[in-house]
Amino acid sequence: MEQVDIHIRPFEEPDLWIMDRDATDPEFGGPFEWVGFRSSHDYRQRWQEDQLLGKSPYNLCVALQENDTAVGWVNWRETDRAGPGSWEIGVLIVPDMRNRGIGTIAQSLLVDYLFAHTTTHRIWAGTEADNIAEQRALERCGFRQEGLLRGHHFRNGEWQDSYVYAITRPENADRSRP
Ligand SMILES: CC(C)(COP(=O)(O)OP(=O)(O)OC[C@H]1O[C@@H](n2cnc3c(N)ncnc32)[C@H](O)[C@@H]1OP(=O)(O)O)[C@@H](O)C(=O)NCCC(=O)NCCS
Repeated sequence: MEQVDIHIRPFEEPDLWIMDRDATDPEFGGPFEWVGFRSSHDYRQRWQEDQLLGKSPYNLCVALQENDTAVGWVNWRETDRAGPGSWEIGVLIVPDMRNRGIGTIAQSLLVDYLFAHTTTHRIWAGTEADNIAEQRALERCGFRQEGLLRGHHFRNGEWQDSYVYAITRPENADRSRP
């Protein structure tokens, strides 16, 4: 696999095309993340207000090290049930930059960032049962599969099963980095 150096950083206005494409192009977040047309207005408004970093969901841009070109995002959010101390994370890499290790490295960088800069004890992610790339990426970042949520969310005309993966603070201290 061709390895690409990346970093994560706050979104700048020229990067917001990624949000527009995700909201309007079924192929962009597909096959597992397309849930129908949405307005990207909310993201642009939030970028004006807080650069997508003032409240949950928080978002950072994934960018190439060599020229800072935006190639995706990582995000994290509070979830009602777990409450403070636990983050749910998400990721999207633009289609023509996938399968080069970027999704794995981006989530690894985000996990280290969140354990370094927040007091969180647990970071988790849900991913559709057929999303093998995301499952592999999470496993390579040290996440463990905890269970299958049956009929967890509705996409493409069906209720979809989703795996829960998580990594705790002590596990992060011991993991090997991809
Ligand atoms: C899921 C996603 C973030 C993975 O990012 P990526 O940069 O393509 O993944 P990587 O190149 O780091 O590869 C991760 C692993 O998945 C494998 N992989 C990559 N694409 C794959 C595919 N289409 N099918 C099966 N495995 C795949 C890689 O070989 C690698 O496995 P390995 O570590 O055993 O070699 C990316 O595909 C994406 O943005 N998808 C759309 C949004 C999405 O599904 N987000 C996750 C929501 S839960």
